[in-house]
This record gives sequence, structure tokens and C-alpha cells, in this order.
Amino acid sequence: MSDSLVSVPLGSFQINELISINESELSVEQNHLSPKKERVIFSLIVPTFNESKNLAQLVEVLSRLLDNYFEAKFQGEFDRKVASTYELIIVDDDSPDLTWQVGLDLMPNYPKLRVMRRQGEKGLSTAVIRGWQASQGEILGVIDGDLQHPPETLTQMLDQMFNQMLDPDVDLVDVDLADVDLVVASRHVEGGGVSDWGFIRRVLSRGAQMLGLLILPNVIGRVSDPMSGYFMVRRSAIANCAMNPLGYKILIEVLGRGQIGKVAEVGYVFQERQEGESKVTWRQYVDYILHLLRLRSRGRITKIRQKLQVPIKRFLSFGLVGLSGVFVDMAILYLLSDASTLAWGLTRSKMISSEVAVINNFLWNDLWTFRNISSQQVGWRKRIRRFLKFNFICLFGIGLNILILNFLYNYLHINQYLANLIAIAIVTIWNFWFNLKLSWRVTQTK
Ligand code: GDD
Ligand code: MN
Repeated sequence: MSDSLVSVPLGSFQINELISINESELSVEQNHLSPKKERVIFSLIVPTFNESKNLAQLVEVLSRLLDNYFEAKFQGEFDRKVASTYELIIVDDDSPDLTWQVGLDLMPNYPKLRVMRRQGEKGLSTAVIRGWQASQGEILGVIDGDLQHPPETLTQMLDQMFNQMLDPDVDLVDVDLADVDLVVASRHVEGGGVSDWGFIRRVLSRGAQMLGLLILPNVIGRVSDPMSGYFMVRRSAIANCAMNPLGYKILIEVLGRGQIGKVAEVGYVFQERQEGESKVTWRQYVDYILHLLRLRSRGRITKIRQKLQVPIKRFLSFGLVGLSGVFVDMAILYLLSDASTLAWGLTRSKMISSEVAVINNFLWNDLWTFRNISSQQVGWRKRIRRFLKFNFICLFGIGLNILILNFLYNYLHINQYLANLIAIAIVTIWNFWFNLKLSWRVTQTK
């Protein structure tokens, strides 16, 4: 069993509460031969992607450090029935350099080491959450797998979490760790810094933080280094929260969605990479902004949507299809009416081009926008019926377009192009709504 992988949790990104150790189980005298029960106090996740060259050293340093720490801190516990311990979980996204295999090979030498190999999902933030979901610990931590986060800082961070545990009068099994919910290793407090960063990188990093402060002041403003990927959080503070992280910045998700009370910070110096390379691209900056906006609007968009019952995704698809229709219309109009091509009359050309666009739009909408409905109403007859309804509604829409355009232009004296844009927007909504209700209506087929 020792060389097996941790299975990847499926479904939503929600971390379960721990089932507390059963009291009665504890009071039962334990046989000397039976293995000591273990209480996992700390689960440290190491997200990796192509870190095979760093892994052995990292696991060695972390294991030694944590073994020593836990032994020193909990030695008074030896007579207890429960041994306090930690676990180290590598979450690798199926790295081409076989980082996960390197992890597996290390397992026989490090009993606290576990390895997860994710094949379907990707991404730093979700890797961390999957690791936490599979973990047993009461404190959940994360550290980079490239040795850029100095491992020694961990002991200071753990000390912050364990304040109260040092009190010899408190019974460990019941104690609620410390009153700190989150400890962040920060580059921007005393003792913190970056080793060798150029001007641009510093500006980008600070700029991102500033932008975060603008969009999400209550979240970003709570810590000095919201970009940090080196922190630990009390499990109970984020258990049962529906997480939905995007991109790199998992700490923002924890701060934004968790019930984080007291926060502590410990300074650290961001080291230079010795092996492998950074995975950061422009994509991470875009994800970061989207992530901020998502947290900012948290639930609000969904709520409005539920209230209005507007199928936003469908509407966007419909709009996109409509846009494709505009290009089809233009192209056909050109082919038929342009002097250099067929040079037909404008009205005749436009009638044909509109109809081709309508057919184009129908096909895409039937295949894509409303595919879940059309797939239930199969057969050519039904499809043609949908098409005729669609055609009819769209023709009506064209009439409406002309009416609105005239009204806006002649009565409200709005610029004709702006007026046309408004008319198109209104007609798009009209088309969408009536087609949703009529053409792709969910009917009980008789
Ligand atoms: N599983 C998994 N999946 N791990 C990943 C992925 C992924 O898609 N992308 C990156 N990682 C791992 C890397 O292997 C590394 O262990 C860690 O995540 C950090 O990735 P780097 O690419 O080395 O990030 P960085 O050094 O540029 O960024 C660091 O700086 C930030 C502070 O500005 C990271 O430490 C961040 O965590 C930190 O917030
Ligand atoms: Mn790195």
C-alpha cells in the first residue's frame, strides 16, 4: 500500500470538517501492541508542476524540519494515547517530468509523505484545495514546491498557530489550537523581502496588489502580502465554504470566502529558483483580475439571475450567433450587390442576404445555443417547425428594428448609427425571448 497514490477528491471544492476523535474511543485503554492513534494536526500541501529536480531536497528538508518540530513540541505527549503528527501531501498535475513518480519513490523513506496525481484538472489553486480536501489536518498549509519559500519559516508560522498549545495545563486533545485562524508568510513585513527581483517584477507585483485593494479592499487589505502562496489556515475557518478559485492566488479565495478571524504574519525572503522554471504567464494576471471580480460580485450576479430567471449563458451564445449572422449578411450582400461581383439590385440582394443570415443563425442556435432542447425534439419535421417559427420571429424582428430606428432617429433625434445600435440591441432581446419561449420551447411531446 505504501506506494499508492492518494485518490483525487471529485466534485465541488468544499473542504469537510473533521470528524472529531471519539471521546469514548480515547478512554478505552489501548493495547501496548496496537499502533498509537494519530491526530494529524498539520497538513502541508505542496502543489507541483515539473518540479522533479526540486522534490527530493524539498521533501528531505521539510520532513526533517517538521519531524523535529513536532517531536520537540509534543514530547510531553508520549504517554498519551494519541500521537500528534503532520502529513505532507504533494499534489502534482500529472507533470510531464513525472514529479509524482519521484514523490512515490520517496515515500518509503518518508512515512508522512503522500502523493496525489491529478489528471483531469489543472491549476495551482484547485490543486491546493484538492490536497486539503484529501487531508486529515486541523491546520492546513501550503508551500511552493520549488524551494523559493524557505522551509524554516514554517516553524515560526506553526508557533503562531500553537500559542495556546504551549500551555502545559491545557489538555491537547480538547484545545482549540490558538485563536489565530490564518498565518501568512509575507514579503512585506519585517524580516521579509525578495532576493533578486527586477524593477518590472516588483512593479507588477505591487500593481496587482494595488488593483486588488481597489476591487476588494476588505479582503486584500487584511494582509500585507495577499499574493503569498505560503500560509496556513485553520481548517474550521474554511470548512464547508464553497470555494471557487481561479488561477494562482489561493490566499485571496481563503480570505474572501472563509470565516477568517485573527490573522498573523511572519516575514520571509522569497528565494531565487535554483531548478526548474516558473509557470507564471500573462494568463495568471488575467485570472487574478477575474478572480477578484468574481469574489467581488460574489453571489450577486447569480442572485439577480435567479430572480429574473434570465439564462445569461444562453443569451450570450445567442448574441454571438447573431454576430456571426451579421458577417454572413454582409458577405452575401457584397457578393450579390457589389458592382464588382453580381451587381444585383440592393433590395433583392438584401432580402436574400437576410434570409441566409437567418438560416445561419438558426443552424448555430439549434446546434449550440439551444442544443439541450433540440436534442430532445429530434426529427426533420420538428426541426423544420422550429426553423419556421424562428424565421417568423426574426422577420418580425426586422420590422421592429426599422420601427425603432425610425422612432429614435426622427422623434428623439439620436444619431442614426447609435439609434441603429440601440434598435439592434432591443431586437436581439426580442428575438431571444420569443425564440426561447416559442421556437425552442420545452414541450411535452405527445
Ligand atoms: N499542481 C500544480 N498545478 N502546481 C502548480 C501549477 C499547476 O497548474 N502551477 C504552478 N504550480 C506549482 C509550482 O510547481 C510551484 O511549486 C508552485 O506552484 C509555484 O509556482 P511558480 O510558477 O514557481 O510560481 P512563482 O514562483 O512565480 O510564484 C510564487 O510567488 C507568488 C508570490 O508572488 C508562488 O510562490 C506563489 O505561490 C506566490 O504567491
Ligand atoms: Mn516559484
